[in-house]
Amino acid sequence: MFNLDKLLRDNIRQLVPYSSARDEFKGEARVFIDANENSLGSPLTKWYNRYPDPHQWKVKEAISKVKGMLPQHIFLGNGSDECIDLLYRAFCVPGKDNVIINPPTYGMYEVSAHINDVEVRRAVLLDDFQLDLVHLETLVDEHTKIIWICSPNNPTANSINRQDIEIVLNNFPGLVVIDEAYINFSRHKSFIQELSDYPNLVVLQTMSKAWGLAGLRLGMAFASEAIIDIYNKVKPPYNISQATQELALKALEEVGQVNDMIRSLVTMREQLSHDLAELPMVRRVYPSDANFLLVKVDDPRGAYAHLLQAGIVVRDRSKVELCEGCLRITVGTEGENAELLKSLTTFRPQA
Ligand SMILES: Cc1ncc(COP(=O)(O)O)c(C=O)c1O
Repeated sequence: MFNLDKLLRDNIRQLVPYSSARDEFKGEARVFIDANENSLGSPLTKWYNRYPDPHQWKVKEAISKVKGMLPQHIFLGNGSDECIDLLYRAFCVPGKDNVIINPPTYGMYEVSAHINDVEVRRAVLLDDFQLDLVHLETLVDEHTKIIWICSPNNPTANSINRQDIEIVLNNFPGLVVIDEAYINFSRHKSFIQELSDYPNLVVLQTMSKAWGLAGLRLGMAFASEAIIDIYNKVKPPYNISQATQELALKALEEVGQVNDMIRSLVTMREQLSHDLAELPMVRRVYPSDANFLLVKVDDPRGAYAHLLQAGIVVRDRSKVELCEGCLRITVGTEGENAELLKSLTTFRPQA
């Protein structure tokens, strides 16, 4: 049985959160001399001398309209990476608790665990890049707090079978985090509509991929109000800057433009996948539900170096388990994809 209160670290259960000046005063006033800001202004235009809304309500309301989720079910982090780290801090006792990852997968689940001195257990994906549920189950013990599932998965680019995720959600009494950073490029639907069915579910999304705003650093966690309250308790008071909040609000008015970009990227991904598969040095292009392709090639290190000489940088994943021989290639612009293909046609793999 899932019991959120029991899952929480004792020190977090007892924590009295920081109460900022902006938390304590919410009404109308003319003179703000409560937060030790610079009362004269700032070198920038606008009111950047003031601390931003610590709960980012306007941004959450705008996200709420796009995603169909109430603002109380949304937490915003300085990138998804902050949403990942805060879960460790809230739920995992260093040196005692553990989490399970399904490698090959996004590296920050493990790095963040190490930073927080939390043990990482590894249920390596099956050869078809799906969950190994039998192995996964054997890894769970009373100190397992989180299972991380990345879908679509980085770097394998596939979506994880929905039924398998549901089995984990129904049987694991800890938190199940589904990282949907690439969901907008997928033919499968998000799990955010399932939040009311699963009190142990946290869904992560980000403005860094489909929204084209990696430089802004805005990650989203969707979960029950109880989990969002815990996030708010442990987060730094002003974790999303005024500039990020303003720019995110502007971007959220442009859903149409973002949808156009998603459609174009998906079309270009399919074209690039087809074109790469025609090259003699390419052994396999894996199906992708993301904005990148996992490509098995002859002599991956040589191919990587060859591309780099032409000024093209891809990600060498050839030493990653299950990705032996693979490069991970983000879908570029039309011109960049053409350059990539042209450069690869002149590559002669070494045996
Ligand atoms: C699966 C996955 N999750 C999260 C992130 C990080 O996202 P953000 O830029 O929001 O920190 C990445 C970045 O590549 C990713 O691949």
